[in-house]
Amino acid sequence: MPSDLRPDLPLGLRLREWVKNNTSPAVRRLLTTFYRLASFNEMRSALKFIAQQHGRETFRQRCWLVLRTLKISIAIDCAHRESEILTVIASILATDPAQDGCIVEAGTFKGGSAAKYSLAARMASRSLYIFDSFEGIPHHLEEHATTIDGAPTGFSEGDYAGSLDEVRDAITRYGDISVCNFVKGWFDDTMPAFHPPVAVAYIDVDLASSTRTCLRCLYPLLVADGVIYSQDGHLPLVVDVLRNANFWSDEIKVLAPSIHGLGIRKLVAIYRNDPQ
Ligand SMILES: C[S@@+](CC[C@H](N)C(=O)[O-])C[C@H]1O[C@@H](n2cnc3c(N)ncnc32)[C@H](O)[C@@H]1O
Repeated sequence: MPSDLRPDLPLGLRLREWVKNNTSPAVRRLLTTFYRLASFNEMRSALKFIAQQHGRETFRQRCWLVLRTLKISIAIDCAHRESEILTVIASILATDPAQDGCIVEAGTFKGGSAAKYSLAARMASRSLYIFDSFEGIPHHLEEHATTIDGAPTGFSEGDYAGSLDEVRDAITRYGDISVCNFVKGWFDDTMPAFHPPVAVAYIDVDLASSTRTCLRCLYPLLVADGVIYSQDGHLPLVVDVLRNANFWSDEIKVLAPSIHGLGIRKLVAIYRNDPQ
């Protein structure tokens, strides 16, 4: 047994640690992608995505999207599962062509999720706005000890850094750069000046403070049948923000909206509930 397989960790975590410490990034991405694909849920969600019509896309385009998302996961370090991305892509494809609205990603890391969304945005004839510091997680004082499932977690300043050049290159290679707009900087500085209607937003920012800023700025821009996904529904501090009726009423001036999967899933969906 390799010496760095710590006996105190469960086997799955030990193997993950070993792969992390002993393989090149390319091999790691390949193994991670195939390991995840082998899970029943991942396989089922890919098949469900392919079997269902979401918008005006063809069966062939859905198959192509699934294969393309896998290719991107193998090529680029990604901090998500395919099933989560396909859920968001289905919403992008399902947007009403008669209704204005862009797609927003807040938190892009190396651009893997953005590359995937750019392909769907192109099919739905929509622009994709990508917000990030491109310097990783900001300085913060939040104490994230465990996820809602009890797994250890935590974020340090600079984690998940991907430069604007890296992200742009990744999307040029694997996505569709023609629909992308990059907004570089801390959300507190960049988002308040953003005003276009939003059809689908994806917030993947790890911190409760960053989530608050994104919701404060993006929720009022959401079109009537729009949706905001948070990829951070597994983090208790983020769940607290989403559950906090005072946050919605005092900071966004709306009643707390309905949030699917809150407290249960990592990817939660936030819908508008106020009359337009
Ligand atoms: C987990 S990563 C995103 C992962 C990516 N969506 C993926 O699926 O591969 C979180 C990102 O949020 C960004 N971020 C977090 N808080 C931020 C803030 N306040 N302002 C700007 N960027 C922020 C970080 O720079 C980082 O790129």
